[in-house]
Amino acid sequence: MKLTFSLPFLKKPAPQTTSPVQQQAEQFAQGLTTVRDMIAPSAIEVDFDFIKIGSQYIRTFFVAGYPRFVTANWLSPLISFDHSLDVAMYIYPQESREILDNLRRKVGEMEATIQSDIKRGRVIDPSVQVALEDALELQQQLAKGAERFFQFGLYVSIPAPTLEELNQVSKQVESTLASLLIITKKATLQMEDGFKTTLPMSKDKLLITRNMDTTSLGTTFPFTTSELTANQGILYGINEHNDSLVIFDRFSLENANSVIFGKSGGGKSYLVKLEILRSLMFDTEVIVIDPENEYEELCRAVNGEYITFSFNAPAKINPFDLSQLSDSGENELGLKVLSLHGLFRVVMGKLTPEEDAVLDRAIILTYRQKGITQEPQSQLKEPPLVEDLYKVLVGMEETVAKGLSDRIERFIKGSMVGIIDQHSNVNIKNPFTVFSIRDLADELRPIAMYVLLDFVWTKIRRDLKKRLLIVDEAWYLMKYPDSANFLNSIAKRARKYFLGLTTITQDVEDFLAVDLGHSIVQNSSIQILLKQSAAAIDKIADLFYLSEGEKHLLLSADVGEGLFFAGPAHVAVRIIASPDEHLLITTKPSEILARKKAKTPAAEREETQPQLPAQSTLTPISLPQPQVETHDETPTPFQPVTQPRNQPIFTTVPVQETAPSEPTSASQPFKSTIEFRPVPPTTNLSK
Ligand SMILES: Nc1ncnc2c1ncn2[C@@H]1O[C@H](COP(=O)(O)OP(=O)(O)OP(=O)(O)O)[C@@H](O)[C@H]1O
Ligand SMILES: [Mg+2]
Repeated sequence: MKLTFSLPFLKKPAPQTTSPVQQQAEQFAQGLTTVRDMIAPSAIEVDFDFIKIGSQYIRTFFVAGYPRFVTANWLSPLISFDHSLDVAMYIYPQESREILDNLRRKVGEMEATIQSDIKRGRVIDPSVQVALEDALELQQQLAKGAERFFQFGLYVSIPAPTLEELNQVSKQVESTLASLLIITKKATLQMEDGFKTTLPMSKDKLLITRNMDTTSLGTTFPFTTSELTANQGILYGINEHNDSLVIFDRFSLENANSVIFGKSGGGKSYLVKLEILRSLMFDTEVIVIDPENEYEELCRAVNGEYITFSFNAPAKINPFDLSQLSDSGENELGLKVLSLHGLFRVVMGKLTPEEDAVLDRAIILTYRQKGITQEPQSQLKEPPLVEDLYKVLVGMEETVAKGLSDRIERFIKGSMVGIIDQHSNVNIKNPFTVFSIRDLADELRPIAMYVLLDFVWTKIRRDLKKRLLIVDEAWYLMKYPDSANFLNSIAKRARKYFLGLTTITQDVEDFLAVDLGHSIVQNSSIQILLKQSAAAIDKIADLFYLSEGEKHLLLSADVGEGLFFAGPAHVAVRIIASPDEHLLITTKPSEILARKKAKTPAAEREETQPQLPAQSTLTPISLPQPQVETHDETPTPFQPVTQPRNQPIFTTVPVQETAPSEPTSASQPFKSTIEFRPVPPTTNLSK
């Protein structure tokens, strides 16, 4: 039997006995098309066990039986069900006095049953005994005011485009709930009421409820939030969903790489500097490639080594250096030739296949002239210089070799002397080393970053240590396929050398324009998205499968706010620093000026500027130096800053189909869980 049904709001108002003018007005209004007319479905069909609205089939289930014991967040399988569902929960608070009266009567009845069983010499019915205990306990809790009493109704509507899908999903929902020991029933012959009950109108038309006390209701609360709190690691910020702390150790993930995307001034470097400060306390070495001198202040404060890389600076790096590792199992010279090849392609610009071949041969020849071959022992010899390559190219017969030598001539004799043409005199000994390349021209930065990355990569493979390598403004490297390729190869291989690569970029467009950018993102277990520009948001949303709400969050985020992805879990995070940390890491010109003034002699300061609060005086923090036990000098743990709480940014939405997520690892330590801290592990529902 099929019933035709029309929603009341579709009905046009019936004419009433009113004045002729009013009647005319109403007649006129009837002829108008309203928004309701436009959004309403053309037909609604109500069947025994489904309702069809337009072309959509919907079936409603109500919950008829609940398990006796549940754990916190026991409804999460329903909430994270892999199909759109409308879940409605109705909670009716009850008068405790009435319940107490009822309970007293019930307790009396049950006690009488037990007594009569005893008198007749029968075995006491255990179910009556249990029910009595539950009732007595509830009575006590209600009398004390520790619990309140509620009626609870739970309904689920399943939408589906076809009847087959509806039947199939219905079975899945039923079995999912059955696995939770929840008994569901179709709201047969009440589909219309069922549908209306699960609309966000707060009208329970089915009224199928169950008694629950506060604790049971608490465990039923369905809002699942993600958590990123591990037992060890460093603090990254505050979880915006539930104000818990985002703490974890990136080295516990399948790889320790991270990418950070955000608009200029969004707080990327700030976040990384915080991570550095906190990681240093846990014996992690940090190496930074800093194109903007953003890390200098921090480096000085922790007694790190700040190496400026420019024409006239004393620090020199030779790109021909070999790692001198004889037991790495990798073809050292082969890999070096590859990376040098990439570097010279960045230096020389586009090469034809013939030029490429000549360059390759020339690099190998340059090493051979110094007696360096595949043989590991030979690689301990002094490496060649760019000049040697130049000479080899000049000496080659091929005509293209001349062109190639011309293109590197400026690094040996011309305007760029002093960058990559001398033997290395830099060693990474300090737990915190920063390479600054700010003094180089824009066009030289990718080259310098390449050389530095290669140098760091060569050095760090010599001894295994927990390390972070930070590449700020990584989009410089993404401008050239070869340097992008090099960064990608580091991201891929870093895990084996206990290295976490952090790639920071503000230019999402550039970074993601090349496939290698995607590859770096995919090879990074941690992805942090801070404030985004409207132009970049769609690309980001596609790559990270962001929902509309998350897109909106990133567009309207405050400085230091964003999304934090760690493996499969992601949370909205607010980065916070202690006042002392903030002073070390801020790059706000106004704050830097204030700090500089604060450092001037007291007398001068009094004249020129209002005194800074006592807590803002900068105390240098010493790092534990290698082989020296300096526990006393380790910086004191930071204090959380009390910042004004931002407006909540997430609202609850009906359960949606879950977006496809990235493949997860079995060893993943994080999972999305609901937090119900005060709730005991199991709760008795049968009160
Ligand atoms: N979580 C935060 N709490 C308080 N202030 C912050 C926070 N994040 C950033 N800031 C402020 O914003 C300034 C700019 O941040 P940051 O230097 O990290 O920008 P950025 O994203 O690295 O920009 P760019 O790409 O231009 O380098 C910081 O110097 C600091 O003063
Ligand atoms: Mg920055």
